[in-house]
Amino acid sequence: MKKFRFPEDGNVAEDIRERYGFDGDLLDIYAGNEGVKVHKWHHYLPLYDRYFSRYRGTKVKFLEIGVNNGGSLQMWRRYLGDDAVLCGIDINPDCAQYDGQSGMVRIGSQDDPEFLAKVVEEMGGVDVVLDDGSHRMPHIETSLRVLFPLLTQGGTYMIEDLHTSYYPRFGGGFDAKANFFNTLRHMVDDMHRWYHGNKTSAIPELGRGRIARVEPGIAGERSLGSGRAGE
Ligand SMILES: C[S@@+](CC[C@H](N)C(=O)[O-])C[C@H]1O[C@@H](n2cnc3c(N)ncnc32)[C@H](O)[C@@H]1O
Repeated sequence: MKKFRFPEDGNVAEDIRERYGFDGDLLDIYAGNEGVKVHKWHHYLPLYDRYFSRYRGTKVKFLEIGVNNGGSLQMWRRYLGDDAVLCGIDINPDCAQYDGQSGMVRIGSQDDPEFLAKVVEEMGGVDVVLDDGSHRMPHIETSLRVLFPLLTQGGTYMIEDLHTSYYPRFGGGFDAKANFFNTLRHMVDDMHRWYHGNKTSAIPELGRGRIARVEPGIAGERSLGSGRAGE
């Protein structure tokens, strides 16, 4: 993790350009952020741009788990444009103050299936889920099982900070059954069902044949996982 550290008084734009070779609108929006705070690992910016740029200027329905200070919703509004339907959810009731600023904010837990389904219904569907919530194994797992099946065809599901899969205090651990990389492995298995005789899906909720692409980031490199619903 040390290699991703960045000094408080450092130049954000310079760091992202020099260390991660990324430049563009998202860098300007992030580095020029004012008002509400947003903290993202700098190496995530090029990855967001790679997976989310196709949604810019569209009516994308974008759900972020984890609102905190409301800064990331503001960043997504500036990046995705006025037509995007943005919704952030957070367990912390203080986050309700950000409702209506850059998008909707709803209060509830990412491990509450009824709450998640209600939010998606209110959004009129969901094209993108970005999980930056508790980073705890059971929570990530429940959100995925509930929200992935609700994604529109060709939608994108991204999970941040998957290095927590190795942390017992987050419900993970190298050999732990709940380590989220085991789930990603099952998703990869389901994607390759033709090659292993259509064995029973380990995660039937995700729908066999719906997973078009799984890109697990390597902890220490990226800590980010991304999946696409089949097209
Ligand atoms: C890392 S912060 C999110 C930051 C925000 N996405 C950003 O980039 O500025 C994590 C947020 O997840 C919220 N959170 C923690 N557990 C949660 C849960 N079970 N359900 C929903 N949100 C949760 C926390 O209250 C916190 O605001």
